[in-house]
Amino acid sequence: MVCVLGIETSCDETACAVVEERTVLSSVIASQIEIHQRFGGVVPEVAAREHVLSINTVLEQALAQSGCGWREIDAIAVTLGPGLIGAILTGVTAAKTLALVHAKPLVGVHHLEGHIYSAFLAEPSLEPPFVCLLVSGGHTSLVQVAAHGAYKTLGQTRDDAVGEAFDKVARLMGLGYPGGPAVQKMAQGGDPQRFLLPRGTVSEPFDTSFSGLKTAVARLLQKQPDLNPADLCASFEWTVAEILAQRVQLALEHTGLDTVIVAGGVSANRRLRERITSLGIKEGWRVIFPPMRFCTDNAAMIACAGVERFRRGEVTPLDAGVFSRASLS
Ligand code: KG4
Ligand code: ZN
Repeated sequence: MVCVLGIETSCDETACAVVEERTVLSSVIASQIEIHQRFGGVVPEVAAREHVLSINTVLEQALAQSGCGWREIDAIAVTLGPGLIGAILTGVTAAKTLALVHAKPLVGVHHLEGHIYSAFLAEPSLEPPFVCLLVSGGHTSLVQVAAHGAYKTLGQTRDDAVGEAFDKVARLMGLGYPGGPAVQKMAQGGDPQRFLLPRGTVSEPFDTSFSGLKTAVARLLQKQPDLNPADLCASFEWTVAEILAQRVQLALEHTGLDTVIVAGGVSANRRLRERITSLGIKEGWRVIFPPMRFCTDNAAMIACAGVERFRRGEVTPLDAGVFSRASLS
C-alpha cells in the first residue's frame, strides 16, 4: 500500500493531504477566497505570501489528521505547474525541504493530472482508458486517458476557460468572486430558455470558445439593464452545459470509449452534472464526477496522482523547476 503526502499551492488554496492508494486519510485546505474577494480575483503576489503564512499549519494538520507519522509516508507529491509561479514555488520549496529532511522521494505532478485523479477518489475501481472533460478556472480540455500517465489532448478552448467565463459573467453582473458558485446560486429558479446565447462554433470538433458567450451576456446586460438575472444565469449555465455535453458525446463516439469523468472546479456545477449524467444514462456510459470537496483545488488529488507515479518508479530530482504553463500532452 503506497502512502503519499500531497501539497498543492498553484492558485489560491493552500492544501495538504495524505492519501493511501485511493483512500483519503486527511485533506486540509486553507482557502484564500476571502482575502482575494475584495480585489475581485486572485492577486498573485498576495496568494504567494498567504501560502507562506499557511503552509506549515496546513501541513501539520494534514499529518495529524491522517494518523500517519513520517515513517508511513512513502513519497511527497507536489504540483509543479501550471499556475501562478510565486504560489507554486511556495509549495514546491516546502515539498523539497521535507523530502530532503525526511529522506523521502519527491514526485512532481501536473496540476491537471491531479484534477483527473480526483475521479479515482470517487470511484476507486476506476481504471483507464476513459475520456476526461477538464473544466477549471484556467483550462477547458477534453483528454483521452489511454493508461496511467498517458494523455492525449483531443481539444481545448480557443480563448477563455469555462471557469473563467463563469467568473467574468459573475463580475459583469456584480455577483462577486469566485463566479461559478455565485452564478449557480443566482440561476436557481431562473428560466434556462429565456435567452438564446451563442455556442461558440469553432472549426476543430473538440475545441471550444467561450469569449463570444461572455460578450453576448455583456451586450444583453447593456441593452436590457433591468433583465431578470436568474433567467440570464440559468440561460448561461444551460448553454455551457449544452456546449460541453456535445463535445463529450463527440469524444466518446470518436474514441469508442464508454467511460467519461468530469473534473476541475466547474465539475461542481449542478446543471453540468445533471446534463452529463442524464446523457450518460441515455447513451449507456459510465459517468464519474469527483466528490464535491475534491472538484475545486485540493491536495488529495495531487497525492492520488503521486501514488501512481511513485508506483511506476518516477521520482523527481530535487533541482526540478516549476512551470506556469504547459499542456498535459
Ligand atoms: O479547479 P479550480 O479550483 O482551479 C483551477 O485549477 O482553475 O477551478 C476554479 C474554477 C473557478 O473559475 C470557479 O468559478 C469554478 O471553478 N467553479 C464553478 C463552481 N464551483 C467552482 N463553476 C461553476 N459552478 C460551480 N458550482
Ligand atoms: Zn485546479
